[in-house]
Amino acid sequence: MNTVDRRCVLRAGLGAAAAGALAACTRPGSAPALVSPSGAAVAAKDGERAGTGPTRAVTLVAAPAQVELGAGLMADTWAYDGRTPGKELRLSAGDRLAATLSNRLPDGATTSVHWHGIALRNDMDGVPQVTQRPVTAGSDFTYRFSAGVPGTYFFHPHVGVQLDRGLHAPLIVEDPKEPLPYDEEWVLVLDDWLDGVTGTPDDVYAELRRGMSGMHMGSRPGVTDGTRPPSSGAGMPTRPMPRSRSPLLGGRAGDVEYPHHLINGRVPADPEILRTKPGRRLRLRVINAGGDTAYRVALGGHELTVTHTDGFPVRHRPADALLVGMGERYDALVTLGDGVFPLVALAEGKDATGMAVIRTGSGGLPRASTRPRELDGRIGSASRLRAADEVWLPPKKPDRVHRVELTGGMMAYDWSVDGRRFDMDDPTAHPLTVEEGRRVRLDFVNTTAMWHPMHLHGHTFQLGASGPRKDTAVVLPRTTVSVAFDADNPGRWMLHCHNAYHAEAGMMALLAYLG
Ligand code: C2O
Ligand code: CU
Repeated sequence: MNTVDRRCVLRAGLGAAAAGALAACTRPGSAPALVSPSGAAVAAKDGERAGTGPTRAVTLVAAPAQVELGAGLMADTWAYDGRTPGKELRLSAGDRLAATLSNRLPDGATTSVHWHGIALRNDMDGVPQVTQRPVTAGSDFTYRFSAGVPGTYFFHPHVGVQLDRGLHAPLIVEDPKEPLPYDEEWVLVLDDWLDGVTGTPDDVYAELRRGMSGMHMGSRPGVTDGTRPPSSGAGMPTRPMPRSRSPLLGGRAGDVEYPHHLINGRVPADPEILRTKPGRRLRLRVINAGGDTAYRVALGGHELTVTHTDGFPVRHRPADALLVGMGERYDALVTLGDGVFPLVALAEGKDATGMAVIRTGSGGLPRASTRPRELDGRIGSASRLRAADEVWLPPKKPDRVHRVELTGGMMAYDWSVDGRRFDMDDPTAHPLTVEEGRRVRLDFVNTTAMWHPMHLHGHTFQLGASGPRKDTAVVLPRTTVSVAFDADNPGRWMLHCHNAYHAEAGMMALLAYLG
């Protein structure tokens, strides 16, 4: 059902004046036709969404940078404006953003910005070959959209494994009528770090693609159970990690071993410290910007109240720890005690931690390796949460059901959807089609031995009948997770695993509106 001429798409990608040129690639006479990223349906929907707020103009310069990760540890990486995470972007719902991405990466490196979790107009979604031309080295691109729905989001490139460099930053959309009572907030960006320390993410990906048999582990064909020693041999620039295991994630937790786990760009030995007063009510906004690591997050000596996930409110629920997959966000309220408290992000299944610190009283800093016992308490993960009444999606018989099989594995590193590795040069070859205005259900059927955080662009689905509204759903091995949404944002939208390496290997699909 290939409705798009591949060479035409490539031409559009290389030289056309506007992303709209992609629309011209539909083969005459071939059906069904897909909505164009900048076509009339997209513009009409964007008109409905247009905010009345002011326009915020910002520049993001993506360039090589040397960053300090704390404790004098320097790393050469790629970053926005020389820092990682990049500077937080903060808007008020209804504001317009005009963000100019300036690509100053080394020659040949194209990039883009994807506004993760935001329901925006399709041609601003930042997916080269799908919604726009790649932004080539030396050139600029301005993203213009209004941010309609308050919440905790972030942004990152949608090219290769650039997400696993320093290229990401929080995007907070404030609610002008904020209903939650709190005194202050703290945005926490969790990140697994190796770039410039044990190679680059591209090195790691190349190594993973060689597959298990290429890892000099003496592995036998068919051996996938991690009983072999991990490869950590001399001369290996990077360290794929065949042995990470997590009961919470149902088995293997990740493919990559990282030398550092950062909170707000800092190692635990030299943490970010929030200085405030006892008794204050704090809103935590936790963002997992990692490439291959889920984090279990807890604040020593405190109980959390989970209020949101992926920007959308949930029925408040107490928890001792949060489990946050790549691409997921959780907001929680906490009333602070008197003292010095570690906020720890345990790299799930990887036996390593990141840390930040809250200081409301006297006392020494917690040890960098500290593990508060709250980590082993009640976990506030999405499967235990319910949508808040105001965002609950009332039940309705779906008009369209897509079975989305998660396929492939570690051995051949052939992660895929429905047995097909996504081809970025031919993105509309096998679309999952939907019609505007219809109720859609996606059944993620995980046939693999590993968990996957499945992310849909441009929409916020509901988990099950009354679970939370989310854009990224953790799907455990050999389980099925059903999500539903109303198709209300025409365009061509990526649906993929938010493990940077799985996505790059091909665990992606295109959800496209017919029109
Ligand atoms: Cu943050 Cu397509 O993803
Ligand atoms: Cu995955």
